[in-house]
Amino acid sequence: MALLPIVLVPDAILRQVAKPVETITPELRQLMDDMLETMYDAPGVGLAANQIGRLERVIVLDCADKQSGEEPNPFQMVNPEITWRSAETSKYNEGCLSIPDGTGDVTRPAAIRVTYMDPDGQSHELEADGLLATCIQHEIDHLDGILFTDHLSKLKRDMVLKKAKKIARERQAG
Ligand code: NI
Repeated sequence: MALLPIVLVPDAILRQVAKPVETITPELRQLMDDMLETMYDAPGVGLAANQIGRLERVIVLDCADKQSGEEPNPFQMVNPEITWRSAETSKYNEGCLSIPDGTGDVTRPAAIRVTYMDPDGQSHELEADGLLATCIQHEIDHLDGILFTDHLSKLKRDMVLKKAKKIARERQAG
């Protein structure tokens, strides 16, 4: 297992579209384990391949509410695809490991259905609501080069990104 460096704004890879995985190799399985470890370490509730510098359609997440004593509930999804979205929406205050210190209220469909493969190549269909639904949508957005800030007003977006880029520059300067 290894911790992977997390890509920060304004890195161009965050704006690129990841390609479908054709074959799940041992290397990709290892990568997904490393992504999960990196996410827990950050700590965060989700991580997409673009954020660790890869353009394959792979996401990991764990939206269990540990503060309320929920057991860990990790997912590793290959080629996740949303096949249904509820008309009902919900709003969450989202953040992102690639956008340091930035948060904003994002409105998304409250429930979704998603199909994906697990690291063993088994197909799954999952219906999700609550934080899990938000998290899956946020991570799949990453695979399409979309950041949560794209869902904010321009004013709010500019503010969040300006601050995040300043922090990213400071971190990179060491
Ligand atoms: Ni994110």
